[in-house]
Amino acid sequence: MKGVVFTEFFELIEELHDYEMVDRVIQESNVESGGNYTSIGSYDFQELVKLLITYSNISGNSIDEALRLFGHKLLKTFRSGYAAFFEPYDNARDFLKTVDNYIHVEVYKLYPDAELPSIRVEDVDDNSFRLIYSSSRALGHLAFGLIEATFELYKEEYTIEMKSTSEKGDEVTFLCKRI
Ligand code: HEM
Repeated sequence: MKGVVFTEFFELIEELHDYEMVDRVIQESNVESGGNYTSIGSYDFQELVKLLITYSNISGNSIDEALRLFGHKLLKTFRSGYAAFFEPYDNARDFLKTVDNYIHVEVYKLYPDAELPSIRVEDVDDNSFRLIYSSSRALGHLAFGLIEATFELYKEEYTIEMKSTSEKGDEVTFLCKRI
């Protein structure tokens, strides 16, 4: 997992709490890297899992909720850092269709060690579509936050129905319907 994911996660904890909380989560997680992440480095995904569990235990916020909020934070960071990916589109569906076959492809070219999910978008009708997330990292709630934040960004109102289509949570379907 890229270091930027870890540094953004610490920023989120600091925003929701304070720096002492970040420090405590790092100390109590006992992660191998000792919490020293650089944004372009790559680190074991299990370190993120440990940090999430520790954060959840200390704060009382569930891992799922923390991941959802993290999705909102990451989308804002992507929007300001990579505006060119968003600007050609005026709606969330068209933008989301480009994640798998364009955005993540570009990310992968820059960082061949990136661990990226598959994000498939299937049209249902004019007002609804399905987004199918699949990844061995099973971060469906992170995807949920990213999708929710995308609708907010494009100022569109949708309901999102999340359904795990595998027991391990490595495949999740989001049915998105315009309100
Ligand atoms: C400009 C927009 C985007 C950029 C630049 C971007 C880039 C990235 C990067 C750098 C990672 C980390 C890879 C790693 O740590 O190895 C990542 C992971 C991920 N991305 Fe994107 N992404 C974007 C939009 C989205 C959107 C809209 C979704 C919505 C579903 C999404 C879903 C995910 C998920 C769920 C992961 C976590 C890894 C996994 O689940 O396997 N991304 N992305």
